[in-house]
Amino acid sequence: MAQRERTFIMIKPDGVQRGLIAKIIARFEEKGFKLVAMKFMQASQELLEKHYADLSSLPFFPFLVQYMQLGPVVPMVWEGDNVVKTGRDIIGATNPANAQPGTIRGDLCIQVGRNIIHGSDSVPSADKEIALWFKDEELVNYKSCMESWIYEN
Ligand code: RTP
Ligand code: MG
Repeated sequence: MAQRERTFIMIKPDGVQRGLIAKIIARFEEKGFKLVAMKFMQASQELLEKHYADLSSLPFFPFLVQYMQLGPVVPMVWEGDNVVKTGRDIIGATNPANAQPGTIRGDLCIQVGRNIIHGSDSVPSADKEIALWFKDEELVNYKSCMESWIYEN
């Protein structure tokens, strides 16, 4: 079986401080996605500037990089069919004011500058972000005991 799609998900400092780590992780676990890597860390300015490089010309960029350094974050890699798109759907719209109830942002936060979670927006971005935040050996290779109950093939 070829490796299934992977995405990069990160709980932002407000999600950590508000005690939402377990609740957010549960949404991905309960859906059936497989956790491949996770850490708990303070992100550096340099790493965050690389992570959000595509947004560097936007007026809110300095605030975004500052926000992401307010406290520790929980970067993760999740695996599963269509996980990039479905992960974004689980997270909800960038601005929580537009996020549907039932999504993480729709249920758990209010402002765009405190939107508690990041998710890759495409497979190429996911590959780039995974390589930026994790070394190859930090991506754990194991068989999920639920695999055959979640996937027909
Ligand atoms: P993310 O990358 O964090 O998953 O968020 P996203 O794809 O939904 O949105 P993106 O356009 O990539 O923006 C990255 C983060 O920048 C902050 N933001 N602030 N003040 C503003 O208008 C504004 N717009 C975006 C948010 O924290 C957003 O998640
Ligand atoms: Mg984005």
